[in-house]
Amino acid sequence: ASYDMGGHDTFMHKEISEQPDAVDRVLRGRIDDRFSTVHLGGLNLDPREARTIRRIKILGCGTSYHAGLIGAGLIESLARIPADAEPASEFRYRNPVVDPDTLYIAVSQSGETYDVLAAVQELKRKGARVLGVVNVVGSAIAREADGGVYVHAGPEVCVVSTKCFTNTVTAFALLALHLGRIRDLSVTDGKRIIEGLRKLPAQIEEILKGEDEIKRLAEVYAGAQSMMFIGRVRGYPVALEASLKLKEISYIHAEAYPASELKHGPLALIEPALPTVAIVPDDDLLEKNRAALEEIKARSGRILAVAHQPQEKADHTIVVPKNEDELDPILMGIPLQLFAYHTALAMGRDIDKPRNLAKSVTVE
Ligand code: AGP
Repeated sequence: ASYDMGGHDTFMHKEISEQPDAVDRVLRGRIDDRFSTVHLGGLNLDPREARTIRRIKILGCGTSYHAGLIGAGLIESLARIPADAEPASEFRYRNPVVDPDTLYIAVSQSGETYDVLAAVQELKRKGARVLGVVNVVGSAIAREADGGVYVHAGPEVCVVSTKCFTNTVTAFALLALHLGRIRDLSVTDGKRIIEGLRKLPAQIEEILKGEDEIKRLAEVYAGAQSMMFIGRVRGYPVALEASLKLKEISYIHAEAYPASELKHGPLALIEPALPTVAIVPDDDLLEKNRAALEEIKARSGRILAVAHQPQEKADHTIVVPKNEDELDPILMGIPLQLFAYHTALAMGRDIDKPRNLAKSVTVE
């Protein structure tokens, strides 16, 4: 199919801009205010079964893996089910123990990524229960799964994923809320998360309004040969995804590290020529994150913070609107999509079709 750029210069820019509507779509018709939960029609998992899940293992590649990491965090905090994410490409080659009490979730924009599909088929062969969190309706992974949640991001044309990442993480928030309300999440907390979810489209709109300022910052940092991205717990997958975005379209080398790991090695790299992008949410880890900024500053490292309030130790801060702590990761990555975009643009890169990459990797 051929798609229209709708007045944008690139599909990436169009897709970044579409996010308020895209998130609205993933929420639409699913929220149940009466019971402070969400309905997920295609899940195919009854409450009795849902209560027997002992673990959740999320599998995906690239950006979908990063969305899965945030998803695992959401499931652990809202549903209190131990959850983790792993690259599907790795999982498949290590003869994993397939446990009947584990629920497996395959994540994919295209629904056609070979590594993910092969992992799903291997799991099903071993009798596991596999759900899909997929964008393309009727795709191979969606068909192979026992049920799942459609992400409803709409067609994503740019090789690098933006709106689908945001929608996938939001879909995980819905799933986590749904599982949480079947288990121990209170009505009050359910309401709190629902209110947070409803705020997302307008908050994304607000972030997008800051594009001119983000463009200016991208031009400030565009000369760097390499960049460090740091975050802690919820912020770490945001850092991973932002660094992948920058690598893919600008070809600037970027590394992502948990902020807590800096002192165990990567601090040796810090000097004025290696800027750091730091994810600094206003949550219970704020002071810890500020301490990391201080350590970087003490080594004369430049810092661009993404935070809920201006950070004194940072050279620049992109301020994003605050949501519930659990939902903040959905918002904090969005300015960094624009940051990667404007960095690549300043460098004259072919943004929609970065070298060496394909939209869906349907081969081994
Ligand atoms: C995203 O920007 C990438 N180009 C890539 O990592 C992608 O997310 C990965 O190949 C998985 O694709 P999928 O979501 O279609 O399965």
